[in-house]
Amino acid sequence: MAILHLIISFISIFIAYKLYNRLRYKLPPGPSPLPFVGNLYDIKSVFFRCFADWSRVYGPIISVYFGSHLNVIVNNSELAKEVLKDQDQHLANRNRTPHIEKRSRNGTDLIWSDYGPHYVKVRKMCVVELFSTKRLEALRPIREDEVTAMVETVFKDCTMPENKGKPLVLRTYLGQMAFLHITRLTFGKRFLNSNGEIDELGQEMRGILGSGTTLGTKKSLAEYIPFYKYLFKAENDAFEALDARADRFAKKIMEEHTLARKKTGNTKNHFIDAMLTIQNEYELSEDTIIGLLWNMIAAGMDTTSITVEWAMTEMVRNPTIQQKVQEELDRVIGNERIMTEADIPNLPYLQCVIKECFRMHPPTPLMLPHKANTDVKLGGYDIPNGTTVSVNIGAIARDPKVWKKPLEFTPERFLKEDVDMKGNDFRLIPFGSGRRICPGAQLGIYMVTSMLGQLLHHFTWALPDGMGPEDVDMMEQPGAVAHMRTPLQAIPTPRLPAELYKRVAVGTV
Ligand code: HEM
Repeated sequence: MAILHLIISFISIFIAYKLYNRLRYKLPPGPSPLPFVGNLYDIKSVFFRCFADWSRVYGPIISVYFGSHLNVIVNNSELAKEVLKDQDQHLANRNRTPHIEKRSRNGTDLIWSDYGPHYVKVRKMCVVELFSTKRLEALRPIREDEVTAMVETVFKDCTMPENKGKPLVLRTYLGQMAFLHITRLTFGKRFLNSNGEIDELGQEMRGILGSGTTLGTKKSLAEYIPFYKYLFKAENDAFEALDARADRFAKKIMEEHTLARKKTGNTKNHFIDAMLTIQNEYELSEDTIIGLLWNMIAAGMDTTSITVEWAMTEMVRNPTIQQKVQEELDRVIGNERIMTEADIPNLPYLQCVIKECFRMHPPTPLMLPHKANTDVKLGGYDIPNGTTVSVNIGAIARDPKVWKKPLEFTPERFLKEDVDMKGNDFRLIPFGSGRRICPGAQLGIYMVTSMLGQLLHHFTWALPDGMGPEDVDMMEQPGAVAHMRTPLQAIPTPRLPAELYKRVAVGTV
């Protein structure tokens, strides 16, 4: 009986508090929430599409409750500017669920840190030390090595007699490339053995990443439900074990690097060596370094491979556009050498294709959610302190008020108008904008452009026999990053002399 009273009192307090907030604040409109679960009961699995649908009913700024937690989602470019520019200083915190709070050790990394002195210090270190033009240039050979290694593997596989004319699952190659590149850049190791297979450490790394994704997907919304701790005890325990495993992995490699530096006196360009060398200068704790290493893997790996998979999908659905890119590549590079990053400024049409792909298929269509550090106004509505605020760049991309024929893949739109995509034009913000803009944007652009450019220079790509453009599944998989729901299958036909398909290797580190 006492328990029943307790539950009734709890529900009454909850409802009274919600009513009080409703009367106190003029909140953005949105679908009706239920007690405890909020709007989780009718959220569709691909969030950005669901929010875009709701914004057509309730207006460009909407309230959506995850459990009892208020999320405000803005769905047009004017409101994106309010969030990321006009009110940026009040909306640059992060919402940490209980698990993220633990994993990031109360936000002592970069991604999950609130905006404050720690964030400013770590962000400055990233911009000045890790993503500087000098560092990116020093790391270029590693990027070129990995892109050419991918091309070599595609060539080997598609020229095997038994594979002739058969489609390849492109994600396998893009995923492997992104994994090898970003882990190498971050941890200073190429996780492949002499047989070209992922080595033991690489398997451990893959295991950690795979378990993280599975557990994260299971729990991402569950954490908003009251009593989740008790309801999802097994997952919580598994998460704690995974965090410990990830820490052990990072510490082991950090120790190896420290020993190697002591022995040889040489510092390498990889992020791990860079951070360990400047650890004292920037007063970086071990927790912060470990957090940053995993941040780079989490933020930099899937984003690039997803973008290229979507871009290649558009290329096989639109052979005329593919041909136009190839004509440009042939004109600028010819068929006696391979494309390098130095060619990018001379490939304006390829750059337009990349922009159009970032417009239509941003890999993080809701960016990373921000959080209010005080009460603010957005679009004339009240946003209470602590509210999570997301910008729906997927909806902005499909807004007919800012884009002509938004659902058509038309790179030419960017030949007519040179739209900035690094945070200065709120119609196209795949990397965000303002204080929390992606620090890896230039690296991401280099990667995506080189991967797409080389794949199109080296091969002509076609859909499997009997499949037309309308048969390609253009929907996203649920999750924070927008993987294609159905992996692309395409048939490559080599178009350059065979000697140009060799990996340009720079060793194993
Ligand atoms: C196609 C490539 C990429 C895209 C589209 C992309 C997009 C984004 C977006 C939308 C954000 C959130 C911005 C915000 O919260 O307002 C972000 C944050 C971040 N990205 Fe990227 N990213 C890409 C590649 C990379 C790469 C290659 C790295 C590093 C190796 C990286 C590292 C980060 C980090 C550390 C953050 C967190 C920044 C912070 O919280 O201050 N990203 N990225």
